[in-house]
Amino acid sequence: MTILVTGATGNVGRAVVTQLLEAGADVRATSRYPETAGLPVDVKAADLANPSSFEQALDNVEKVFLFPNPAGAQGFVDLAEAAGVQRIVLLSSQAAAHEEYGDAPMRTMHVIVEQALAKSSLEWTFLRPGGFATNTLLWAQSIKDTGRVRIPYADMNTNSIHEDDIAAVAVRALLEDGHAGNVYELTGPESLTQRRQIELIGEVIGKEIEVIDQRGAEARAALKAQFGPYANDHFLDSMLKIYQSAVGRPADMATGVDEVLGRPGRTFAEWVQDHKADFVA
Ligand SMILES: NC(=O)c1ccc[n+]([C@@H]2O[C@H](COP(=O)([O-])OP(=O)(O)OC[C@H]3O[C@@H](n4cnc5c(N)ncnc54)[C@H](OP(=O)(O)O)[C@@H]3O)[C@@H](O)[C@H]2O)c1
Repeated sequence: MTILVTGATGNVGRAVVTQLLEAGADVRATSRYPETAGLPVDVKAADLANPSSFEQALDNVEKVFLFPNPAGAQGFVDLAEAAGVQRIVLLSSQAAAHEEYGDAPMRTMHVIVEQALAKSSLEWTFLRPGGFATNTLLWAQSIKDTGRVRIPYADMNTNSIHEDDIAAVAVRALLEDGHAGNVYELTGPESLTQRRQIELIGEVIGKEIEVIDQRGAEARAALKAQFGPYANDHFLDSMLKIYQSAVGRPADMATGVDEVLGRPGRTFAEWVQDHKADFVA
């Protein structure tokens, strides 16, 4: 039986495909643009916003790694049930648990997909990661071009997680029994300020990087640009509160990675080594 990976061209999905293949699984992937997906498996064209596009991709599929897309969530779940899928592991977000985000899309998009799965007859496991280490790739162009980064609340503490660790948890939940109905909160293993993350990038690439700290209205505008359609006013207010309160207060670590993998998550320094090429001109 086949395991279908959606969002397979993304940071996490691509790592899920790699690790499933390493484990000897029969893997199929989907993308809206299969011709440019660059994946070493059969890639079918499908769009989660249009669930009926998954009819062919779900043929003979037992398990699915699901990228969160609220638009077609219920339709996808209905189709998966009808196609005989048994298990779905969802890439959700810690934001799903943050009621203070209210109706901010970053929260509701994950809640909608979780709810569609929770009331289905499928076995489900929710992965709720915090901030991805890949978010720091946003700084790469500026580091390459100017040796400088301008960021909101540089001294905010983070607990960034390596995409390979999220994928490793997903692969366990797909391949092993005993994860059905579980919700795993996933973070990296250490609290680091963004300023320290930038220092670590500089150490690995051998370049001094200047940090320009943004506060107040400038920080708000930067977050609005970064989160685009996800950032309504309510969301920006709560993000700014979180950023401000994370200055001088170490980030909390979740236990999901250790619990499922029996080892701590990869450090940010390890992540930078894995992505060194992205920060070098
Ligand atoms: N960044 C964070 O800090 C963070 C924290 C918690 C949770 N998350 C969750 O993780 C997601 C990002 O994951 P990632 O970094 O692995 O992805 P990514 O690198 O941002 O890539 C996006 C993926 O989503 C797929 N996709 C987008 N719209 C789609 C649609 N309508 N139908 C099918 N596939 C679609 C794309 O597939 P194609 O373009 O190939 O079709 C691509 O594979 C966020 O959206 C959020 O839900 C992120």
